[in-house]
Amino acid sequence: MSQRKRIAVIPGDGIGKEVIPQAAQVMQAVSAAVDLTTFDWGADRYLADKTTVPPDGFTMLARDFDAILVGAFGDPRVPSNIHAKEILLGMRFQMDLYANVRPVRLMDASLCPLKGVGPKDVDFVVLRENTEGVYGGLGGIFKQGTPDEIAIQEDVNTRKGVERIIRYAFEYCTNQRKLDGSSRRRVLMCDKSNAMTHAGGLWQRVFKEVGSEYTKIETQHMYVDALCLQMVRDPRLFDVIVTNNMFGDIVTDLAAGLQGGLGMAASGNLHPGKTSMFEPVHGSAPPIAGKDVANPFGAILTAAMMLAHLGMKAEAEKIEAIVLEAVREDKTTADIGGALGTREAGEWVAERVSRR
Ligand SMILES: NC(=O)c1ccc[n+]([C@@H]2O[C@H](COP(=O)([O-])OP(=O)(O)OC[C@H]3O[C@@H](n4cnc5c(N)ncnc54)[C@H](O)[C@@H]3O)[C@@H](O)[C@H]2O)c1
Repeated sequence: MSQRKRIAVIPGDGIGKEVIPQAAQVMQAVSAAVDLTTFDWGADRYLADKTTVPPDGFTMLARDFDAILVGAFGDPRVPSNIHAKEILLGMRFQMDLYANVRPVRLMDASLCPLKGVGPKDVDFVVLRENTEGVYGGLGGIFKQGTPDEIAIQEDVNTRKGVERIIRYAFEYCTNQRKLDGSSRRRVLMCDKSNAMTHAGGLWQRVFKEVGSEYTKIETQHMYVDALCLQMVRDPRLFDVIVTNNMFGDIVTDLAAGLQGGLGMAASGNLHPGKTSMFEPVHGSAPPIAGKDVANPFGAILTAAMMLAHLGMKAEAEKIEAIVLEAVREDKTTADIGGALGTREAGEWVAERVSRR
């Protein structure tokens, strides 16, 4: 990888178009070695010329860029959400970005709705399988519009897919530390194998097999419903969580609640050795889009996560430290208690980053 980092930026729809420019501004403030190229993929482009992903779009991203920063997709003017499916799920599936890494870190106790819970209590990660499960679109509708209508949504779990995300979780646990510098020690597999016995059985067997290779790491299991309860009762229980596509999607919105809401949550879609994609956990939030109220910190922390992935750890830590200062000094949007607009909050972080 060259010294300069080539980043494709795809703001997408709704608040993506507001928060991603703030993240871009902060990246340019932290380093002159980041080259950004913006693409207009999203609902506006789709409505203008019916393009979702231009021909060879994913090949071009993988060939010409070190990483991709994405906003969100989803626009009420496109009720089918076809563009979101083709761009976002297309990128995850066709670029084979199998590990959706969603760190859950509480920056400051003031952001957490739970009593007596501080940053040292919430520092875990959810590793979500990102290329299979029920999001692959397999299935169909039969006798649509009649009283006998049938809808089938298949849940695809391959040994290859399950094994590589579970192995990724054990490797993550081995190699990544907590924010306080201590080692990670536990991998918890979350499923619903009591009811979904075929898929759950595969996950259980593979988890046992792969886990037996990592003798220093403790293994745990929770059904997804129990995990939701425990996440709210005692987030200290969690270290590394690995789960399937749908459960990972759902539990990370709950986990975002522990961090201060969806406006604070970052994520990466990774395949080691390939061009990876980074996006805030939140969606396009149509009701608040265009109002300059969306919290840009999830997108800014996502940019920091991407820079760390590209080897720019010092720059990433600097951005995270300044977002924390913004939280402590109330230089935030209203969702986390401040009075700034999206642009003002982003500019405050960018300005402090460039001064430091
Ligand atoms: N990765 C993605 O692109 C992605 C993810 C989730 C949803 N979506 C799409 O986004 C659209 C809206 O979906 P939704 O409402 O379920 O989820 P959402 O994440 O857009 O919004 C959920 C709630 O969180 C709030 N919120 C989200 N981000 C925020 C931010 N940065 N600052 C302040 N508040 C924020 C919203 O106002 C809303 O109340 C749909 O079209 C959906 O398909 C896209």
